[in-house]
This record gives sequence, C-alpha cells and structure tokens, in this order.
Amino acid sequence: MSNKSAIILAAGKGTRMKSDLPKVLCEVLFKPMINWVIDACHNADINNICAVTGYKSELVENILEDNISTAIQKEQKGTGHAVMMAKNFLEKNIDGDVIVLCGDAPFMDSTTIQNAYDMHKKQNNAITVITARLDDPTGYGRIVRNRYGLERIVEQKDASNNELLINEVNSGAYWFNVKYLLEVLFDIDDSNSQGEYYLPDTIALSLAKGRKVNAYISDNPDVILGANSRRDLCNLNAIANRRVIDNHFDNGVEFVSLDGVLISPEVKIGKGTVILPSTILKGTTEIGSGCSIGPNSLVQNSKIENNVVFNASQCYNSFIASNVTIGPFCHIRPNSTIKEGVHLGDFVEIKNSVVGENTHVSHLTYVGDSDVGKNVNFGCGVVTVNYNGKTKARCTIEDDAFIGCNTNLVAPVKVGKRGYTAAGSTITEDVPDASLAIARSRQINKEGYNK
Ligand code: UD1
Ligand code: CA
Repeated sequence: MSNKSAIILAAGKGTRMKSDLPKVLCEVLFKPMINWVIDACHNADINNICAVTGYKSELVENILEDNISTAIQKEQKGTGHAVMMAKNFLEKNIDGDVIVLCGDAPFMDSTTIQNAYDMHKKQNNAITVITARLDDPTGYGRIVRNRYGLERIVEQKDASNNELLINEVNSGAYWFNVKYLLEVLFDIDDSNSQGEYYLPDTIALSLAKGRKVNAYISDNPDVILGANSRRDLCNLNAIANRRVIDNHFDNGVEFVSLDGVLISPEVKIGKGTVILPSTILKGTTEIGSGCSIGPNSLVQNSKIENNVVFNASQCYNSFIASNVTIGPFCHIRPNSTIKEGVHLGDFVEIKNSVVGENTHVSHLTYVGDSDVGKNVNFGCGVVTVNYNGKTKARCTIEDDAFIGCNTNLVAPVKVGKRGYTAAGSTITEDVPDASLAIARSRQINKEGYNK
C-alpha cells in the first residue's frame, strides 16, 4: 500500500482567461490542464487524489475519473484555504505524505514529483517545496533562504525590492507530511496584501514547531509554467506541441514543415510516415508507418494502419486499414471501418459503416449505416438514404456489386453479390445476386418540342 496522496487545487475561476470555463478545464493540446496534472500523478504512482473545486465545480467534476475524490471551496480565499477544505481527505491519509499541486500548471512531471518525494523522505521533512530558477521570476512566490536553509516564501505583491531579485521561485507544488501539515494548516491567517490564506505560510509555522523544511530545485523549469491568460495558454500549447513533435522526430517521423501541425500527447505515429502542414492529430489516434497524412487534415481518436494516403480530409473515431487512399475532401464519421486497399475520393462521406477490401467510392457519395462488401464500385453521386425522418436503417451492398451513378439506395435495402444498379435509380427493393435493377422512368423524346 502506497501512502502517497495528492491534492490538486482547481477552485480558481481564472478571471484573466475570460472564459466561461473554470481555468483548469482550459486545454493544452486538446487536453484539459487538470488532466495533465492527474496524469503526472498516475505516472508517479500516486492514485489517491483529491481535487479541490470551486468555480463551476460540477463542470470540473464531470471530467474527473471516478476514483478521484473532491472537496468544495465555495469562496476562493487562497491556496491555504483551499487545502483546508480537503481536511477530511487529509485526515483519512494522516499516516502518509501528500503532494499539493496546482491544477493550472500542466507541465509538472512525474520525475520531479518522485525526486522531490525521495528528498522529502530521506530528510524526514515536514514540507518539501518544489522550486525552479527562472530568468524572469516576475509574478511568482520567491524562495527566501537563510544560512540554515529555507526560511519562507514571499509573494510578488508582498516582497521587498531585495526579495524581488531572487530568481528561485515556488512552483506551487509541495510534499507535506500529512500529520505535520494538520498541526499548522489551520493556523494560517490572511494578514497579507491580498487578504488571502497563503499555503506557503505553513513553512514558517512548521519551522516554529521545530520541523524540518526544504526546497527541491527541479532541473525542468517548465514545471513552474502556468496559464493565467489566453496568451499564456497559447504559449503552453506551443511548448507542449514542440515537445511532442520532437519525440516523433526521434521516432523517425517526417515533418516537411511544422506550420499548423498540432499533435496531442497520446498520439502514436510509425516511422517513415510524413505529416504535411496544417494537420491536427488528436486524442488516442494511432498512425502506422509509411503513411502520408495531410495537408489540411484532422484525425481524432482513430487508428490508421500502414501506407495510407490521407489527403485534406477528416476522420473521427474510426479504423482505416493499410494501403487505403483517402481524399481530398473526405469526411469519415464515427464508427466506420475502412478495409485494405479501399479508395475514397473527393466529397465522400462515410458514417457508421464498413467498407470492404478494394472497394472504390470515388466521388460525391454518402455511405451511412451501411455494410459494404469487397470490390464494390460506387459511381459518382450515390446516396444511401438511411433516414426517413424518424428512424435510421442499414443498407447492405455485397461483394463485387456495381452501383451506378446517382443511385439512391433507400434503406433498409440489399444489393446482392455482383448486383448492378442502373444510373439514376432509386432502389427500394432488394436486388438479387448478379441482377441489374433499373428503377427510373423510361425516357420519352418529344420531337420538335423546342423548335
Ligand atoms: C501560487 C503561490 C506562488 C507560486 C505560484 C505558482 C500562494 C500564496 N502562492 O501563486 O508562491 O509561485 O502559485 O504558480 O500559494 N486556488 C484555489 N483556491 C484558491 C486560490 C487558488 O483552488 O482560493 C488554485 C487555483 O485554481 C490554481 C492554484 O490554486 O490552480 C494556484 O492559485 P493562483 O491563484 O494561481 O496562485 P498564485 O497567486 O499564482
Ligand atoms: Ca497562478
């Protein structure tokens, strides 16, 4: 049993963000900031987590994993006050150590958390503050040391001119011995320039009780970075994106240019795949090797196998097998399976359908709620008519069928193996195997009509 736990401070509104969302839900690379912090905890093997929520707490709770507990801070009276709200959680974990983290600092990493913990335990500290040295420390709490070690943390707004010169700053993350924290937590007062209960005030209070405190200086200064404004958030995106892309470079992925390329941290890409400009890869997307993805493409929560050409198209929650060519201007909507060797051409929309091996859907076609076999050829402008205004139904198109141009297949309907539909047909009844269905009116020529 691990006796490590975490409290994530997530009650703030983030006024400067000018967002309707609580700040911790603002996203870096399409992932809410608080989820970056939670992932860092899990990676450091800390799974007993309490989030302190406040502003629009129900929105934050909605995205939290079920096993994360919550405490409510109705009014945001400071970081110390926020931790007071987690009193029950602290009492349950009184025999261990807790790390307090800011929900708006997404780059806190598991190595820093772990190394700080090791120092914390080895030195038997009541508090181990995680700090870093910054070229520009403006805005952050400064770490004040004396000849005995860490003395206190002073906030920007409370600091003297000399203290403002200190470039070692508080990350806002701290390991606490829970028992020692509870000895001093409720003694924090709000006698400072902001009238807030400052969590860092626990340092002086613990020292006064004869406890040991220290600071762990992280060698990754990014652990400090938080987002207070939209501008900060954009900077965090750029930093995170560059880091993700650097990993892909190392894995043998080719980027002709990074313009407009954004890749979520969980995305996997095989070697030899080329990512072209203005391509966004989101969520749990996995792409194999030898593919060409982009330009101007978006792939979300989808798996693409090897040697796929995916040009100027979008794909959501779907599977694309090897040797498929897609686009330009193709839209693959959720729950679709595109099997090997398929070609989907321009202005083709596929939804909740299976498209069998080597089938061609080359132009201006909608395939929705359908099961399509192998080697089927769709002419230009085919529509599966899957919705009658009330219910949806499926179409089945069996192997080697040939669907003529401008065919409507009114679901539920089946075209059998080697079935053939004449151009312009509206098919409402099943087409037997190897048969031709013609469902349109015969042409009449009115001679001389337009003389
Ligand atoms: C805090 C630290 C500062 C440190 C900085 C790092 C204090 C007094 N100061 O300052 O030393 O350098 O973080 O980013 O702790 N929050 C609540 N409830 C509150 C107040 C804050 O949940 O009542 C949450 C916020 O949502 C945020 C985190 O705590 O996730 C940090 O709060 P913030 O107001 O940004 O603290 P800073 O003033 O930046
Ligand atoms: Ca902050």
